[in-house]
Amino acid sequence: MRPFDLFAKTALALFVFLSSVFAEESMVEIITPKENTLQTELTLNVVLGIDKKHFERVEVGVFPDMKSLDLSRSESTACANISLGLGENRVLVRAYKKGVLVSEESRNVYVSSELYHQFRYPPKDYKKSYFHTDENENLCAKCHDMSVNEVENIAFVDVTKSNCYGCHKNINKEKYAHAPSANWLCTSCHQESKKGVSKYLTKEPTDASCFECHKENEELWRSAKYRHEPLDAGHCNKCHNPHSGPYSMFIRKDVNQICLGCHKDKHIKARESKNSACSGTNYGDLCIECHTPHASNRPFFLKKALEEIKR
Ligand code: HEC
Ligand code: HEC
Ligand code: HEC
Ligand code: HEC
Ligand code: HEC
Ligand code: HEC
Ligand code: HEC
Repeated sequence: MRPFDLFAKTALALFVFLSSVFAEESMVEIITPKENTLQTELTLNVVLGIDKKHFERVEVGVFPDMKSLDLSRSESTACANISLGLGENRVLVRAYKKGVLVSEESRNVYVSSELYHQFRYPPKDYKKSYFHTDENENLCAKCHDMSVNEVENIAFVDVTKSNCYGCHKNINKEKYAHAPSANWLCTSCHQESKKGVSKYLTKEPTDASCFECHKENEELWRSAKYRHEPLDAGHCNKCHNPHSGPYSMFIRKDVNQICLGCHKDKHIKARESKNSACSGTNYGDLCIECHTPHASNRPFFLKKALEEIKR
C-alpha cells in the first residue's frame, strides 16, 4: 500500500470516528436518572430518549452487569429496570452499530445504608432527587398510566394490574415482602405530597405510618420503661425495609449483623467484662434470644430477668 493511501484511509477512519463522536448527543438522551442521584433502594429505572437511525442495539447497567434493551416498543423511548449495589454505581448506557460502540453515556447513582459504616455518608455531591412531579410524569404519561388505581385496604387480586407495578416491580421481589407493599397498597405509606418535590413522600419520622396499622405494638412499646434509641427516634426503616428483603421480617441484614452493625464496640466490651452475660457471636447465639430490638421493661431490653440469663 502506498503511503498516500494509508494516509487517506486513516483520515477517513478518523472522520467516521469523529462524526460518530459528535453525533453522540442526539443519539441517546438519559431522561432518568439524574446525575449524582442518592437513594436507598437497590433498583433503578433508566429511561432513554432514542433516535434509532444511529444504532441497532443499546445496553444499560453497571458494568459488567449490562442488559440489552427492547427497542421495538417505541420509536422515541427505551425503558429499563436495573439492579444496583450499595455505594457508588456508574450506570452506563452504550449504543452499538454493527457491533461497534458508537456512543457511551453514564450517570452516577449512590445507594446509601445506615447499617454499613462505609455507605452511611455518601460523598457530598450526591442528592436525593425525587421523580413524581407533574413535569416528570408528563414525560411518561403518553405511554404509561400515571394515576393511582389502588383502593384503600383492598389488596390487588392480580398485582400486575397496579399502575405502579410496571415501573416498580422489583421493589417487592425479595423473599420476605411486607403485606401492604406486596399487595401494592403503596399509598398506605406514601401518602404525603409536596408540590414540585414528589406526590409520594412518607411521613417523617417513619413510625407515624407504621403505627397506623401496628397499633398494638405502639401501645406496648410507648408504655415500656426502656426503649431502643432508633425505635424511640421513629426510624423503623433503619432496621426494616418497608417493602421487601432477603431476611425474615424484611430486616435489612441477618439479625446478629444488624445489631453488630451499630454495636460492635459496646458489645465486645460487654463480653470482655468478667460479669457479663452478653454472649451473642461468642457462642453463635442470636442477639434476639436475650434482647428485644424494640422496647422492654427490663434494662438492656432483656427478654428475661438478668438472674435467669446468668444461670
Ligand atoms: C412510568 C414509570 C413509573 C410509574 C408508572 C410509577 N413510577 Fe414511581 N418512580 C418512577 C421513577 C423513574 C422513579 C425514580 C426512582 C427510580 O428510578 O426507581 C420513581 C420513584 C418513586 C418513588 C420515590 C419518590 C419519588 O418521587 O422519587 C415512589 C414513592 C414511587 N415512585 C411510587 C410510585 C407509586 C405509588 C406509583 C403508582 C401510583 C408509581 N410510583 C408509578 C417511575 C414510575
Ligand atoms: C413512547 C412510549 C413510552 C414512553 C414515553 C415511556 N415509556 Fe416506559 N415503557 C414503554 C413500553 C411500551 C414499555 C413496555 C411495557 C410492558 O412491557 O408492559 C415500557 C416499560 C417501562 C418500564 C419497565 C421496563 C422493564 O424492562 O420492565 C419502566 C421502568 C418504564 N417504562 C419507565 C418509564 C418512565 C419513567 C418514563 C417517563 C420518564 C417512560 N417509561 C416513558 C413505553 C414508553
Ligand atoms: C409500610 C410503608 C410503605 C409501603 C407500603 C410502601 N413504601 Fe415505599 N417507602 C417507604 C419508606 C419509609 C421509604 C423511605 C426510604 C427508606 O426507608 O428506604 C420508602 C421509599 C420508597 C422509594 C424510594 C427508595 C429510594 O431508593 O430512595 C420508592 C421508589 C418506593 N418507596 C416505592 C414504593 C412502592 C412502588 C410501593 C408499593 C408497592 C411502596 N413504596 C410501598 C414506606 C413504604
Ligand atoms: C397499611 C397497614 C400497614 C402499615 C402502614 C404498616 N404495616 Fe407492617 N404489616 C401490616 C400487615 C397487614 C402485616 C401482616 C400481618 C401481621 O403479621 O401483622 C404486617 C407485617 C409487618 C411485619 C412482620 C410481622 C410478622 O410477625 O411477620 C413487620 C416487621 C412490619 N409489618 C413492620 C412495619 C413497619 C416497620 C412499618 C412502617 C415502615 C409498617 N409495618 C407499616 C400492615 C401494615
Ligand atoms: C434496631 C432494629 C429495629 C428497629 C429500629 C425496629 N425493628 Fe422491628 N424488628 C427488628 C427485628 C430484628 C425483628 C425480629 C424480632 C424477632 O424475630 O424476634 C423485628 C420484628 C418486628 C415486628 C414483628 C414482631 C413483633 O415484635 O411484633 C414488628 C411488627 C416490627 N418489628 C415493627 C417495627 C416498627 C413499627 C418499628 C418502628 C417503630 C420497628 N419495628 C423498629 C428490628 C428492629
Ligand atoms: C441503627 C443503629 C442500631 C441498631 C441497628 C441497633 N442498635 Fe442498639 N442502640 C443503638 C443506639 C444509638 C443506642 C443508644 C446508645 C447506646 O447505648 O449506644 C442503642 C442501645 C442499645 C442497648 C442498650 C445499651 C445500654 O447501654 O443501655 C442494647 C442492649 C442494644 N442497643 C441492643 C441492640 C440489639 C440486640 C440490636 C439488634 C436487634 C441493636 N441494638 C441494633 C443503635 C442501634
Ligand atoms: C445470652 C444472652 C445474651 C445474648 C445472646 C446477647 N446478649 Fe447482649 N447483653 C446480655 C445481658 C444480660 C446484658 C446486660 C449487661 C451484661 O450483663 O453484660 C447485655 C448487654 C448488652 C449491651 C449493652 C452493653 C453495655 O455495656 O452498655 C449491648 C449493646 C448488647 N448486649 C448487645 C448484644 C448484641 C449485639 C448481641 C448479639 C451479637 C447480644 N447482645 C447477645 C445478654 C445477651
